[in-house]
Amino acid sequence: AARLGTPPSAQSPPPVNLTQEELKKIAAYKAVEYVKSGMVIGLGTGSTAKHAVDRIGELLRLGELRGIVGIPTSKKTHEQALSLGIPLSDLDSHPVLHLAIDGADEVDPHLNLVKGRGGSLLREKMIEGACEKFIVIVDDSKLVKFLGGSGLAVPVEIVPFCWKNTAMRLREMFKDSGCVAKLRTCGEEAEPFVTDNGNYIIDLYLEKDIGDLQGASDAILRIPCVVENGMFLDMATTVIVAGKKGVEVIDK
Ligand code: 5RP
Repeated sequence: AARLGTPPSAQSPPPVNLTQEELKKIAAYKAVEYVKSGMVIGLGTGSTAKHAVDRIGELLRLGELRGIVGIPTSKKTHEQALSLGIPLSDLDSHPVLHLAIDGADEVDPHLNLVKGRGGSLLREKMIEGACEKFIVIVDDSKLVKFLGGSGLAVPVEIVPFCWKNTAMRLREMFKDSGCVAKLRTCGEEAEPFVTDNGNYIIDLYLEKDIGDLQGASDAILRIPCVVENGMFLDMATTVIVAGKKGVEVIDK
């Protein structure tokens, strides 16, 4: 089996009996091989991206990377990166990034993504849309035939004002795909989940392929209350998949 801590090559043999967590780590470490000294890097959010941020911190500490600047995609990643001593900045100081590394909730055969189950889709889309190379890291459970196909939600970030009407409009918009639109909640009292930007999230559960993804994304964004949606279309430049067949590096 591949040893964690030693990134396998793209042609590495199938890892045997590895947990999903170990697969995430393998994909993350492989992506960090693309990070070079002096780069401005978008730091993703979620359990997979966390391994990549840890690895960047480790390489900085060992002196194998120098002069890195990280732009975190969430408050949580900001905290993690700070604790690792990764120098941080923001998009205003660095409007163009060399590279971003992040996980995804779903990856379709055209490398379109669903992101934002962790709630950080807005900053992720801003930062990952501003980089020259966007590497997505997933274990093979994230591969789907169509977006929404895993049975999990496509998130939509909205301003809190008039969320019920927005949920109704979204449900109506995707009624042919068997859409259920639910306000994301958290805690024992099921209070609304609030994003880093002070917004709410409506989760769209789709039974069928919505087909025209760009058309659907544009239609969602035309609803006045909507800030962003979790469909990341034509944005990934490389997807690294760790799974039963080993590590696969898929370039767009
Ligand atoms: C957070 C995200 C994450 O990248 C996505 O949810 C994947 O997370 P994980 O690696 O924990 O499965 O989009 O907003």
